[in-house]
Amino acid sequence: MNREVVLCENAGFCFGADRGFNAVKNAIEEGIPIYTYGPILNNSFIVKGFEEKGVRVVNDFSELANLPKGKIIIRSHGVSKAEFDKLQESGFEVFDATCPFVKRIHRIVAKESEEGSEIIVVGNPKHPEVCGIVGWSHNGATVIENSEEADKFSFAPDKKYCVVSQTTFNRNKFQEIVELLEKRSYNILVMNTICDATSIRQTEAEALSKRAELMIVIGDKASSNSKKLYEICKANCDQTYFIQELSDIVGRLPKVSGLVGITAGASTPKYIIEEVQSYVRNDV
Ligand code: F3S
Repeated sequence: MNREVVLCENAGFCFGADRGFNAVKNAIEEGIPIYTYGPILNNSFIVKGFEEKGVRVVNDFSELANLPKGKIIIRSHGVSKAEFDKLQESGFEVFDATCPFVKRIHRIVAKESEEGSEIIVVGNPKHPEVCGIVGWSHNGATVIENSEEADKFSFAPDKKYCVVSQTTFNRNKFQEIVELLEKRSYNILVMNTICDATSIRQTEAEALSKRAELMIVIGDKASSNSKKLYEICKANCDQTYFIQELSDIVGRLPKVSGLVGITAGASTPKYIIEEVQSYVRNDV
């Protein structure tokens, strides 16, 4: 059967994920104890692979007290200001692999809150990137995740507000939330801090899923940007599958004659994408 299989051009590792991955890969060669502050990427295959090479994931600052000194790598999601300062003073060598796009949000939040603005972060309140962003504000922040929360948010008439977004937030939902907020406050500065890698990946996935009969999204279940890709594709293509690795679909995909589209989240390793692509070309 002559089936068309199309892989999105920007599927897989983004700039920030690549940087974090390489930071750990290069550090392993130094022969000193290596730690990552939280899993380096939202991908259990990668984390496990590094663990097998001696890299240890530290989930809380207090764990460092009993560990031999070495290098600790801050992942691309970033950390709060308090954690950042504590790590710098910990006696461990710190490599800051916070993605520059996340660093930019930290700077905006620190500056605007220092100048008196209330900070609103549009994103998932439980996501480590969002927790980190909130922690750079001088006076706390409100996290808004959906339109209902935006509707309920009560503005103080005499205050200025600054809105930023989690880098991996869905563009359309961000726009919706911002419109709701702007309707009720004049003193609001909106900074769209959704990163280009995410927007481009989402736009490509949206276009491809409109043409596809079957769509495959590859990503770890814990990866927020992969879940967003799934939502976008599912809205356009009913037969959308969210998988972590090839074995999730082997023998389980329906036979289709139309186009099969593939995309992958920012922390999906290339070899998994290649395996899935080759399977789909030959076996679906
Ligand atoms: Fe950075 Fe964007 Fe990736 S913020 S970590 S390049 S998704």
